[in-house]
Amino acid sequence: MRILFVGDVVGRSGREAVGAALPGLRDRLRLDLIVVNAENASHGFGLGTDMAEALFAAGADVLTLGNHAWDRKEIIPYIADHSRLIRPLNFPPGTPGAGSAVVALPDGRTAVVMQAMGRLYLDPLDCPFRGTAQELARHRLGVTVQAIVLDIHAEASSEKLAYAHSFDGQASLIVGTHTHVPSADHQILPGGTAFLSDAGMSGDYDSVIGMQKDIATTRFWRKMPIERLNPAEGEATICGVFVETDDRTGLAQRIEPLRMGGRLSQAMPEATRA
Ligand SMILES: [Fe+2]
Ligand SMILES: [Fe+2]
Repeated sequence: MRILFVGDVVGRSGREAVGAALPGLRDRLRLDLIVVNAENASHGFGLGTDMAEALFAAGADVLTLGNHAWDRKEIIPYIADHSRLIRPLNFPPGTPGAGSAVVALPDGRTAVVMQAMGRLYLDPLDCPFRGTAQELARHRLGVTVQAIVLDIHAEASSEKLAYAHSFDGQASLIVGTHTHVPSADHQILPGGTAFLSDAGMSGDYDSVIGMQKDIATTRFWRKMPIERLNPAEGEATICGVFVETDDRTGLAQRIEPLRMGGRLSQAMPEATRA
C-alpha cells in the first residue's frame, strides 16, 4: 500500500497548498491512502467543518487532530457524524468522536488510522501507550487489515520514540505530529514499522511554528499580554512522509520524506521503487 501522511496544516496558507497539491500527489505517487493532520487549519487553532470538507474533497481519506481538536466548537457535532475525522484516542471516556478510523479502500483492502496524544508538556490524559495497545488488539496487521497508521501527537521526541519502539512490528507507519518542525530520522525500525518522529507542519516556515514571527517573537521578549497570534501567510511548504508497505505483512518497505513548495529544501519521493 502506498501511503502519504501530511503534517499539521496551518492556516489559509497551509490549507490552500495542501488542497491544491493532494490530487496531483495522489496521481504522481499512486497513493492508496492519504492522512492529513488538520488541528491547526483554522487560523492556527482548530478545524472548521468547511475546511474538513475541502480537505476530504481534495483527497484526504482520514483527518487527524490533536491538542487543538476542540478550538473550533462546530467540529464537536461534526466529528460525531464523520468517522474519518479522528481525535486522540486517550481523551477521557465519553469524548465525542473516535480515536481510530477503519478505511475500506476501493480495491477491497482495509487500512486503519489511529491517533494518540503524548503527555509530556501537554495536558494530562489517559495513558497513550495502554490506549494504543488496546486499540491495536482489535486488528491483526497483514491479516484483518493491510495497513495501520499511528499518529503520535506529542511534544517530546523521547515519548515519540518510546511509543514507536513499543509498537514496532504492529503498525505500518508511526509518525509524530505537533512540533511543526520536520525531523530527519525517518527509518524502518527493526520490527518493520516505518517511523518519523515529526512530520513537520504544512504552512509558512518564515514564522514561529506557523505563526507570524513578530508577534510570536515579542511574546518571548516581553512577558506581557500582547496581540493574539495570527498564522503567517507566505507560501507554505507541505511537509509529510511517504511509505510503501507489503500487503502480506502490513510492514514498511520504504519511507521517504516529502517537502514541497515554500522555503524548505525540497524532497519528493520516487514515484517508482528503485
Ligand atoms: Fe499542530
Ligand atoms: Fe498540537
